[in-house]
Amino acid sequence: MKNQAENLKLLVQRMKQDIEEQIDGKERKTRLITIASGKGGVGKSSFAVNLAIALSELRQKVILLDADMGLANIDVILGLSPQYNLAHVIAGERTISEVVYDGPKGLKIIPGGTGMYELANLQDWQLESFLNKLSHLDGTADFFLIDSSAGLSKSVLSFALSADDIIIITTPEITALTDAYGTIKTIRQQSFKGNIKLVINRVSSNTEGVAVYNKLKIAVNRFLKSSLEFLGTIREDNSVGLSVKEQKPFVLAHPYSPASRDVFSIAAIIAKKENNMNPKRDLKDYFKKVTEHFRWV
Ligand SMILES: Nc1ncnc2c1ncn2[C@@H]1O[C@H](COP(=O)(O)OP(=O)(O)OP(=O)(O)O)[C@@H](O)[C@H]1O
Ligand SMILES: [Mg+2]
Repeated sequence: MKNQAENLKLLVQRMKQDIEEQIDGKERKTRLITIASGKGGVGKSSFAVNLAIALSELRQKVILLDADMGLANIDVILGLSPQYNLAHVIAGERTISEVVYDGPKGLKIIPGGTGMYELANLQDWQLESFLNKLSHLDGTADFFLIDSSAGLSKSVLSFALSADDIIIITTPEITALTDAYGTIKTIRQQSFKGNIKLVINRVSSNTEGVAVYNKLKIAVNRFLKSSLEFLGTIREDNSVGLSVKEQKPFVLAHPYSPASRDVFSIAAIIAKKENNMNPKRDLKDYFKKVTEHFRWV
């Protein structure tokens, strides 16, 4: 079992190397972010979809991958009915570009396969072939966001460990916090070198969220000897549930709602950091972008 987890990790790392080579080998343009949690149902998918749209609105090119293969629901939140999904790619029936769908604001979405086995249950060769296919997409986006399933299955862990950033999302509930801490611990024990960032969802106020963050940060600093970056809070907001029923993401359906404002603030932090790290694109990069547009059609 350990071998399979190791293999997954190596494969995902290889995929990232491919990505980097495709982007001139100089400047890293695509940032891989895994959105994870300990406890289920804390708002990963809602956050992933709305963050992806908010980043797109900030003129970032985003690919959102639904890696929760057991219970794929990004397409549900977005009101899409994709004919093909990752399951078809893994089965070798479709190419990866055939399962990239256009979402709002230029966002690209790769739907997961509902009712499918998790990535970890695939044979190594199937996974290798899938990741190789996936690597063809990269270099075409500023951000590659991965919405994962709850907890730390091997697949979640291998994606998470290969990411530049892992965003852990939790609610202020004690059980969710305990699970978030456990997840951070496991990630650090696996010698993850990237950044672990925290989002606290469903808070009554920003002050409540900051207090919760401070508690968790102290525990992570003291017992795990690790840092924990704070990305922000998302307030409890009826428009979130409403937008699921409307099948329209809340940042679009209710852009001035508290949750939308909070997600935009978080997106701005993420996008700004990127701008600081990557120099502005020159003409060559611009033409590369044009070529990339051609690739999508
Ligand atoms: N800020 C919020 N305010 C109100 N309701 C929220 C908020 N965030 C999420 N929810 C609600 O919580 C429920 C779970 O959200 P979501 O499906 O995004 O969680 P998840 O972490 O992806 O779950 P899973 O672990 O099953 O994948 C949904 O009904 C959603 O509407
Ligand atoms: Mg989910």
